[in-house]
Amino acid sequence: MEKRKDSLLFLTISFTLISLFPKSSIAADSITATQSMNDSQTLVSSGQKFELGFFSAGGSGDLYLGIWYKNIPSKTKVWVANRDSPLQNSSGFLTFNYDGNLVLLNQSRSIVWSSNISQAARSPVVQLLDSGNLVLKDMGDDNSENYLWQSFDHPYC
Ligand SMILES: *[C@@H]1O[C@H](CO)[C@@H](O)[C@H](O)[C@H]1NC(C)=O
Ligand SMILES: *[C@@H]1O[C@H](CO)[C@@H](O)[C@H](O)[C@H]1NC(C)=O
Ligand SMILES: *[C@@H]1O[C@H](CO)[C@@H](O)[C@H](O)[C@H]1NC(C)=O
Ligand SMILES: *[C@@H]1O[C@H](CO)[C@@H](O)[C@H](O)[C@H]1NC(C)=O
Repeated sequence: MEKRKDSLLFLTISFTLISLFPKSSIAADSITATQSMNDSQTLVSSGQKFELGFFSAGGSGDLYLGIWYKNIPSKTKVWVANRDSPLQNSSGFLTFNYDGNLVLLNQSRSIVWSSNISQAARSPVVQLLDSGNLVLKDMGDDNSENYLWQSFDHPYC
């Protein structure tokens, strides 16, 4: 119980800090609770195989968050978060919500997509792996059985 309170407090503080200091530098392949990514930034997996970022399709101003092969010029997408709800004429942010969910926000900070997990991480981190899998986990817990959410469970193709 006490732990849970602590983590809620931690997340609340983190969220407040994100609001106060919206920009912090991103480690190459991951985002932690105190960080966010905007639509001109990307994450790159440690072996440089995959990249996570925003892309627009069809010249319509629609913006999507997705993962593509970094070294293939066509940038073939392997996963798209908000396939059914593109950002329209809006900038985008990827960050953590107060409840530990990875969320995609539009310009007016409305949630456009969420990892939608019910069990919050104590200290959430999302990492793009060299397999192309985007995983949400507790910081320091690399056991794949403990992933709280992973893009491989949500294929889009
Ligand atoms: C995204 O964040 C980077 C690093 O903080 C900043 O230099 C850049 O201007 C931001 N881009 C947008 C579109 O907000
Ligand atoms: C897109 O944004 C621009 C600049 O804010 C605005 O002038 C335009 O009306 C917007 N278009 C749509 C379809 O929302
Ligand atoms: C953000 O999303 C909300 C909810 O879907 C919508 O009402 C709002 O117009 C959007 N804002 C922008 C800038 O796209
Ligand atoms: C989020 O999860 C709840 C159940 O945990 C489900 O009912 C709901 O449809 C989900 N929402 C989305 C957008 O996937």
